[in-house]
Amino acid sequence: MDQDYNLAEYSPRLIAEQTNRRRTFAIISHPDAGKTTLTEKFLLFSGAVIEAGSIKARQGRRAARSDWMAIEQQRGISISSTVMQFEYRSHTFNLLDTPGHRDFSEDTYRVLSACDSAVMVLDVAKGIEPQTLKLFEVCRSQNLPIVTFLNKYDRPGRDPLELIDEIEEMIGLQPTPITWPVGPPGNFLGVIDRHDKTFITYERTARGAHIGAEQKTTIEDARDRIGTHIEKAVEECSLLEEVGANFDRESFLQGKSSPLFVGSALTNFGVKHLLDAVATLSPPPGERLDDEGNVRSVTAPFSGFVFKMQANMNPSHRDHVAFVRVCSGAFIRGMTVVNAETKRPFATKYATTMFGNERSTLEVAFPGDIVGLVNASELRIGDTLYLDEPVKYPELITFAPELFAYIRSTDTAKSKQFKKGLEQLEREGVIQVLFDPKQPNTPLLGAVGEMQFDVLTYRLESEFQAKVELRRTSYRFVRLTDEPTSAALDKLGGVLVAHRSDGELLALFENEFRLKRIQSDHPDWNLEPLVGSG
Ligand code: G4P
Repeated sequence: MDQDYNLAEYSPRLIAEQTNRRRTFAIISHPDAGKTTLTEKFLLFSGAVIEAGSIKARQGRRAARSDWMAIEQQRGISISSTVMQFEYRSHTFNLLDTPGHRDFSEDTYRVLSACDSAVMVLDVAKGIEPQTLKLFEVCRSQNLPIVTFLNKYDRPGRDPLELIDEIEEMIGLQPTPITWPVGPPGNFLGVIDRHDKTFITYERTARGAHIGAEQKTTIEDARDRIGTHIEKAVEECSLLEEVGANFDRESFLQGKSSPLFVGSALTNFGVKHLLDAVATLSPPPGERLDDEGNVRSVTAPFSGFVFKMQANMNPSHRDHVAFVRVCSGAFIRGMTVVNAETKRPFATKYATTMFGNERSTLEVAFPGDIVGLVNASELRIGDTLYLDEPVKYPELITFAPELFAYIRSTDTAKSKQFKKGLEQLEREGVIQVLFDPKQPNTPLLGAVGEMQFDVLTYRLESEFQAKVELRRTSYRFVRLTDEPTSAALDKLGGVLVAHRSDGELLALFENEFRLKRIQSDHPDWNLEPLVGSG
């Protein structure tokens, strides 16, 4: 095959340098905590956008929004996740967008598997909220280091010391504040940098549309101007010192402690500090373990895994995009790589990079980068791609569905499209498809969040012209099981055993009480929890 690239140009040294510059991360938060605002401010501070405005109102400019489907636009929410790449302080950041809606989908979980760290945004008035908790659990299952941002400090809220306790008690993560606020929430006068013991104030700009100047003074100077507030903040800093809430790199990298910053994304307070922290504290991409526990160094030949599939992103021509997280080596557009699952070659002529709605051709990518492979209909979520030296990364975690519904096509003339659409959307990971042996012609769907059903029905109708009807069930709890247990469960009644298309057997229960009862009556039965099972 003709090769119009020269791999020799990409020495291990160059790859290592490029890898060390990369920071691949996601922002996790409960809806409304300020993720979109913070994303936009990161882009503003990096120079990727010139002026921050309301993302929802934005038009014609390079958009920070990564919403693209009509359903998202109708509702003004973001369902699909893409990546935003920007440069800041000689680093290349890959910010992976996680869907922000409260009806959470599996997509969000999988995006986190492609990250090396996360920023957790909390609303100072609300602290840890349900979705923060769920997302945090996923980060913890992957030992992701987390930087915490206490947002909206310009508005009245809770005592920051109380919030520190809450984080530690609710999620067992020890916050180690790097900056500490001066003034109560709603009267944000600035922050103390605990490291160099300076007082930092920020110049306000209208809604933070431009970057305001930052002023640093000594605490002594500030005492003359804002005596009591600074005294209180200094006292609180001593308290933090006493309890040992100091930054510790090792426990941060293990996901046990979290450097914390206080600020207000809307007014730009503290955003620069936070971005600096991601650059200097959060880890670059590191070596990865394959499915046999062997180490794949970042300088080994190219490898990566598909963490997200998206079809029909461009309504004018049907296409499938596989989002691949590069784990090792240089990716060069035009390479022919191997799919570890099928051992078949895959040509990467159409590699793209995504920035919100926009797509541009990508020539080279390094570990930590995300490559969008177009025409990738033969790839599946979790597939590993490699060059020269075979490797296969572990399967991505499949999460426990919590909602189940039977689906049928309401137009028999469209049953072919319905089948095709369901297969396609299952492959993209939009939904899990199960089969109830008692109703073999009616697929049973499993979802983590309600939104997955909405997306599925919408897309079946708009892309495959298949109108469908969902029939909800009251099953809520699920366990992995095996044939003997499944036969025994069948005799009990009130439990549904369904086959998932990956070959797993799932036992569904209506309530936790019933499940616990069966487990205590039959401790020898095989009923294993899935990730995220209640
Ligand atoms: P999300 O993506 O996490 O859902 O949150 P988003 O950034 O959309 O922010 C939710 C709301 O909170 C927005 O207000 C936003 O302006 C506001 N907000 C975000 N950060 C701050 C902050 O630091 N201080 C204050 N006071 N508000 C903040 P909205 O009224 O819903 O939208 P908009 O009309 O302001 O665009």
